[in-house]
Amino acid sequence: MSSPVLKHIKNHNLFQTKPFINNEFVESKSGKTFKVINPATEEVIAELPEQTPEEIDEVIKLTAEAFKTFRKTNPYDRSKMLRKLYDLMIENLDDLATIITLENGKCLTDAKGEIKYAASYFEWFSEEAKRVYGDTIQPSNPNNKIITYKQPVGAVGLLCPFNFPSAMGARKAAPAWAVGCTCILKPDGQTPLSSLALAYLAKEAGFPPGAFNVVLASVESTPMVGTKICESPSIKKVSFTGSTGVGKLLVKQSSLTLKKLSMELGGNAPIVVFDDADLDLAVEQSVASKFRSLGQTCVCANRLYVQEGVYDKFCEKFAEKVKLFKIGNGLDEGVTHGCLINTKAIEKVEDHIEDAIKKGAQVLVKGGKLPELGKHFYAPTVLKDVQQDSKVLHEETFGPLGAIAKFSTKEEVLELCNDTPYGLASYVFAQNINTIWYMSEYLEAGMVSVNTGLFTDASMPFGGIKESGFGREGSLYGIDDYTVLKSITLGNVYN
Ligand code: SIN
Repeated sequence: MSSPVLKHIKNHNLFQTKPFINNEFVESKSGKTFKVINPATEEVIAELPEQTPEEIDEVIKLTAEAFKTFRKTNPYDRSKMLRKLYDLMIENLDDLATIITLENGKCLTDAKGEIKYAASYFEWFSEEAKRVYGDTIQPSNPNNKIITYKQPVGAVGLLCPFNFPSAMGARKAAPAWAVGCTCILKPDGQTPLSSLALAYLAKEAGFPPGAFNVVLASVESTPMVGTKICESPSIKKVSFTGSTGVGKLLVKQSSLTLKKLSMELGGNAPIVVFDDADLDLAVEQSVASKFRSLGQTCVCANRLYVQEGVYDKFCEKFAEKVKLFKIGNGLDEGVTHGCLINTKAIEKVEDHIEDAIKKGAQVLVKGGKLPELGKHFYAPTVLKDVQQDSKVLHEETFGPLGAIAKFSTKEEVLELCNDTPYGLASYVFAQNINTIWYMSEYLEAGMVSVNTGLFTDASMPFGGIKESGFGREGSLYGIDDYTVLKSITLGNVYN
């Protein structure tokens, strides 16, 4: 199919439309296809094969088979491949970002940021590949020694979401390859093109056949692929980023084989702004956090709690900034925010707005649908005086709604923040070190961000607690999710 993608990118090899198996883009036996739509224009940009259950079984088998040789590769060689992949991503930055914008709808500036972010995981883990350490331990028998040895867990299944079509796969594949695991990656059916572009570059970077396989399925067929990967005894670990509901299902399916899991699930991140905060910084960073990718990240602020002394000023300045957004097709010059992924996403935002207003919230910025731009465009809404029983303070909106509520004391706000089953990210804006420490220590979240709204980085352990999941991605701890610790006891060493 000649695709509109091709007229936007220079390196046409990055546009691939077939499953990537054993280092080749292959035909599928299935006669069925699914369409990839540009959410900004509603245009079909690709038509991809819907793989059959038998094909998924075959890929699982060959990913496990490839592990037997890939695990034996020299970490220094794996390091070079990862570094090469980083270099290739940076060389192809503009094209890769364009592909993200075309399939996801986020603006080009955000998409370029995502490619740099994705590539940084390959750079980081190219360095970590050489630094997988163990311990030597003296057991009670003085004649024995224990050595611990981190080994690759095996073939791994990577189940990725639509919101970061490149970075989430990169964050999972980079540590997997660093330690010698082979991967089967399933991109979201709405945004598979970035993973196929990554596959092309991974081959160019020298990864051998079977180290990386990308399987394809529409949104409707995704449960079949997820079940196959989770239930297969040949897959030794699954890493999933997505909703808590789906995560719980995958945990259940994986329990049949007791495989290792990383679950990066939903959040309900609070931003807490104290009276002594640098107000301009707090406003700027809160806007950046709330509206990054139009609110479609798991760590976006979902609720903003502002202390009474700065409440009015904060609301006013926050609203002023939001009114400056330029919403439009993410490829267009000057656009600061693109569109949402689908109409279901818009329905959820509208439901949260309606509910909050019914319960007493005041409208500071009236957003809403922008049909003149397309059916996935939505202007951000900002509400103040949001009441504690409103849905938006309890459920992840995953969209462009800024919901602001007032608080008085740190004890009160801490209780509000922790009154949720989720525990992914939290944000604090304050100057007083005691306040900062109190909140950082007692907020129930895997990640606390102080005086900044954008904190994620390849060097930082990313992950949640409570129903936001478990496991850590990125950082030196990211390696642990893809390794198993073996203890080797050496007996009678002094005989
Ligand atoms: C996510 O939404 O899960 C990822 C956000 C990030 O890594 O910054």
